[in-house]
Amino acid sequence: MGYAHLHFPPGSVFLVTGGAGFIGSNLCEQLLKFDCKVICLDNLSTGKRENIEAFLSDPRFTFVEGDVRDLQTCMDVCKGVDFVMHQAAWGSVPRSIEMPLLYAQINIQGTLNMMEAARQCGVRKFVYASSSSVYGDHPVLPKTEGQEGTLLSPYAVTKRVCEEYGRLYKKLYGLDTYGLRYFNVFGKRQDPDGVYAAVIPRFIRQLLHGETPVIFGDGQQSRDFTYVENVVEANFKACLADSGAAGEVFNIAYGGRESLLDIYHALTDALGKHVEPEFGPARAGDIRHSNADISKARRLLGYDPDYDFAHGLRLAVDWYTENLK
Ligand SMILES: NC(=O)c1ccc[n+]([C@@H]2O[C@H](COP(=O)([O-])OP(=O)(O)OC[C@H]3O[C@@H](n4cnc5c(N)ncnc54)[C@H](O)[C@@H]3O)[C@@H](O)[C@H]2O)c1
Repeated sequence: MGYAHLHFPPGSVFLVTGGAGFIGSNLCEQLLKFDCKVICLDNLSTGKRENIEAFLSDPRFTFVEGDVRDLQTCMDVCKGVDFVMHQAAWGSVPRSIEMPLLYAQINIQGTLNMMEAARQCGVRKFVYASSSSVYGDHPVLPKTEGQEGTLLSPYAVTKRVCEEYGRLYKKLYGLDTYGLRYFNVFGKRQDPDGVYAAVIPRFIRQLLHGETPVIFGDGQQSRDFTYVENVVEANFKACLADSGAAGEVFNIAYGGRESLLDIYHALTDALGKHVEPEFGPARAGDIRHSNADISKARRLLGYDPDYDFAHGLRLAVDWYTENLK
């Protein structure tokens, strides 16, 4: 269960790209509880300095402000690194429909640069963020690795391409890559602001600020909402996984399924704000239903998530209630 019992080789050096973002900063925070050094590479485009402010005084933590689109930067930060957790990318399906070129540059070229740098620098394990969006329009639930449909957005294309590079870098060059297909992650430090904000922090912010949240579509669409600590566990276990499981991709979720309306009502109850939502048009590129079969990650990574949706939501609500200005 969880990851507190794990042991990394003493003095291990970790590189977290996108470490000033939501998931990356949770990875940095938890890594610093182990005997290791942590390098965070981030260009602060969607991430924030305040997400890593608390770690900057730790001598084992180094922040490098830089861009994964620059190969030299990737080479520089990979030197002496044992484990890479590559999170740097731009998320959001609707934004990728607005900016397909930028998504290819950041998500595809940036990931390829990082894999190449990791290979040249002799990194031991390269763990990278993929996404449930790679299942596209495949109708079968739960989503199982190997059963992907037609892709619905430029974002999904970028993640799928990175998975192919991950597979090839193992096969051709022997780099141990592990692609983690995250399913709708939520938790502390996820950005609640802006039109592209993820639904849970956006609803919480709107409810706390007395605004009326808008649900796009009928609210019956469902997702396998995954608390961020489960994602941290998956990254740590992938770093310690067998080489035989490298080159592969893994669903990382809890294995449940909540509709947007379920979430909305759970949040109005938790916050004691009983506001009726408004409904807007369904968004292009969105998958209707999604939930994950996590048996492959359980089998090959020893992934055993601790936090179900209700537990994660309580922790997230507590954090935003305390920290939202
Ligand atoms: N949050 C989710 O539900 C979810 C679901 C599936 C996959 N993912 C993937 O997980 C990863 C982390 O997502 P997140 O939710 O923490 O997003 P985030 O936006 O909070 O974090 C991404 C970080 O990457 C940094 N970054 C972006 N472009 C960069 C560049 N060119 N060079 C260096 N740094 C750059 C940003 O500044 C940011 O700090 C991403 O790869 C994302 O696609 C997230």
